[in-house]
Amino acid sequence: HLLPLFARGAQYSRITGGTEAGVGEFPWQVSVQARNEHLCGGAILSEWWIITAAHCFYPQQLPPTELRVVLGTNSLTSPSLEIKGVTTVILHKDFQRVNMDNDIALLMLDNPITFNELKEPICLPMEPGLSKWHNCWVAGWGQVKSGLNEPMETELLKAPMTIMNWDKCFKEFSKLTKNMLCAGYENESYDSCQGDSGGPLACTQESGKKWYHVGIISWGRSCGLKNTPGIYTLLENYHSWIKKVTELEGRPFSAERMVGTSKQKGKVSRASEFPKPGSPTLWLLPCLLPYVTASKKWP
Ligand code: ARG
Repeated sequence: HLLPLFARGAQYSRITGGTEAGVGEFPWQVSVQARNEHLCGGAILSEWWIITAAHCFYPQQLPPTELRVVLGTNSLTSPSLEIKGVTTVILHKDFQRVNMDNDIALLMLDNPITFNELKEPICLPMEPGLSKWHNCWVAGWGQVKSGLNEPMETELLKAPMTIMNWDKCFKEFSKLTKNMLCAGYENESYDSCQGDSGGPLACTQESGKKWYHVGIISWGRSCGLKNTPGIYTLLENYHSWIKKVTELEGRPFSAERMVGTSKQKGKVSRASEFPKPGSPTLWLLPCLLPYVTASKKWP
């Protein structure tokens, strides 16, 4: 599995400054679709849960039966797409359409994801604090420039990001709340755009190979304006919300639980997809076990 690299030889020719993502580079990335059309991005949180933005479901609130999630692919026109149905849409009850505060939603799938190199959960940050994030990327199938009738992309594009100081961003965006973060890229037009919403701002820490979900693509002023950041839902503020609502739905998200289910017999046998654990730590959250370190054979 390729990790995002800054220079892969490709030209930054697309309008939001993006380049095409490599196969398996963003294995947590999904397309949330309404009536078979791309609506928003999203990220795999666990075998049952997709994390996305609440505003994707406004003004039109479609029933879950009209929604689907496409996963494990960069190309939305691939002839063999893996599609999952959605049974429940959970919007944050304090989502505010006026200022986009609490722009977060969870989708429960109708059957669990079987992880492999192309489908992996992204980690949730364990402690608050943005200074530790060092290599950040956004990806999506959204528009490559802002405008009403701009087409969506069929191939996943990516762009590098840096997190901006909150106070500095607040000077530019007075609607900014403490549940938001700003990310852009100095002197470049790298940005997310319409249709990318719901997808993650994925970052690693200085040392790590693990990818963390730091922010949900939420809103912005136009797209790709130099030195104008995009605004993201600050995920670290929603740990307890995620824990609470996933518990209420009977499919609790937590590290311990995931350890439990991966060892259970009879359930989706994820055990067989993992390499023989050399140490017990390998049985922690699958997001902590990037397949890049795994010796597993891939058909
Ligand atoms: N609200 C947009 C969406 O629904 C995302 C906009 C992000 N804009 C930006 N300039 N970063 O897809």
